Amino acid sequence: MTPGADTTLPHTRFEMEQRTISPEFVTSTIRVLTSHESIRSFEATPIAEEVLEAILVSSRSAPTSSNLQAYSIVVVENVERRARLAHLVGDQRYVAEAPVMLIFCADISRLHYLAQRQGHTYAANNLEMFLTASLDASLALQNALVAAESLGLGAVPIGSVRNEPNLIAEELGLPQGVVAIAGLTIGYPREGARRGSKPRLPSDSVVHREQYSADDIEQHVRDYDAVMIANGLYAGRQVATGAPTIPDAEYGWAEHTARRTSKPETLAGPSAALRDHLKDDVESRGFTIR
Ligand SMILES: Cc1cc2nc3c(=O)[nH]c(=O)nc-3n(C[C@H](O)[C@H](O)[C@H](O)COP(=O)(O)O)c2cc1C
Repeated sequence: MTPGADTTLPHTRFEMEQRTISPEFVTSTIRVLTSHESIRSFEATPIAEEVLEAILVSSRSAPTSSNLQAYSIVVVENVERRARLAHLVGDQRYVAEAPVMLIFCADISRLHYLAQRQGHTYAANNLEMFLTASLDASLALQNALVAAESLGLGAVPIGSVRNEPNLIAEELGLPQGVVAIAGLTIGYPREGARRGSKPRLPSDSVVHREQYSADDIEQHVRDYDAVMIANGLYAGRQVATGAPTIPDAEYGWAEHTARRTSKPETLAGPSAALRDHLKDDVESRGFTIR
């Protein structure tokens, strides 16, 4: 696939959910957003420097709390480093396969530097600062993802950089006050890598008008489960919690998600038991969670 090929994107969520919307409201941006799917199989084709630059400038154009810009992006292209990162994130092979991984970090090191430079005492030692920096990093990631997809590339966020924050910091040379929040693996999708956008919960389940309502939660879960069981997304992927294996025809989003939240190690994936210590890890990187 070549850059600039967003007309080749698969059908949008409007079509998938059989929503009628006037074509003039399906802008090229909305088309990209509503045909998103995470890609996990890539060609070795490199990403041209100019294409990468377009993605990075888009990423840096994201909004940022109080213009603090409390984030940094580490661009990893080196093949050996990508292989080591793939291992550190729980042996996710596509991280090694794709030509580029961007690591989005919460970064308060510059803010410490500024406080000292300007003769002030840095006192933003609280959860709010960590959340602010993490949101900045997350928005930058999402902008990069959308930019990449609009150029015909595929991408998948990699939250598993939080499995081993200190080892990731060592690999990337991150100073104190910088912690990896999530990665974004980017490349040209291999033939057959696209399976179509993943169904989402019914709109009314997550979009509330004026006031929150969970009145129809049971119906929403049933409807979504039926869709997810029918498309076989979780078939053969039952989360091992000690609970009995059940027929695939009964194992949908509800059971899968409930199992994933039943133990810290199943939330983050089997190789990520350490995320149970994330608070300590994040604090050891120079952030305060209180
Ligand atoms: C913050 C974040 C972290 C993620 N981490 C991973 C990851 O480590 N590995 C992976 O394969 N997918 C990861 N994903 C992708 C999700 O699994 C995916 O977005 C979700 O299943 C919905 O599928 P879709 O993106 O194709 O719509 C992550 C997504 C987000 C938003």
